[in-house]
Parts: sequence; C-alpha cells; structure tokens
Amino acid sequence: MTYNLGSDAEKQDEKAKNLARARQSLIEELDAINVYEERVQASNDEELKKVLAHNRDEEKEHAAMLVDWLRKNDPTFDKMFSEHD
Ligand SMILES: [Fe+2]
Repeated sequence: MTYNLGSDAEKQDEKAKNLARARQSLIEELDAINVYEERVQASNDEELKKVLAHNRDEEKEHAAMLVDWLRKNDPTFDKMFSEHD
C-alpha cells in the first residue's frame, strides 16, 4: 500500500516520516469506519449488519491506537487534546 508523505518526503527525517505514516494511517482507519457504517446502513441482512458493525468498531479501536501514538510522539498534538476549546 502506498501512503502520502508529501511531495518533499525525501527531505523529511525519520521522525517526520513516522508521524506522516501515523497520520495517513489514521485517515485510512477513519475512512474504513465510514465505509463499514455505510454498508451497515445499506444492508438488509441482520447477520451481515452485525458482522459489518463489529468490523466498523474494530476500525475505531485502530483509530484510537493511532491517536494514542500521535499524542505520545507529537507534543503539539497531545497539547491540543488537553487544551482545545
Ligand atoms: Fe483498521
């Protein structure tokens, strides 16, 4: 899978690249949540809805894990979580 590190990726240090990898992964997890939710809403099969809802919620866990990592590795990101309005 490819991910977007920006057009000047070769100039970034490893820390910046890892932060970009985590942010791009978070985008993908949030997108997956939207896709699963759309399919839950669209399906008329109750058993399939439950499977898709379970998968959607696992993507939420993945997103939360990435937010945790970003908070640990990006002090400004962490600060904004505790200080935003
Ligand atoms: Fe995931």
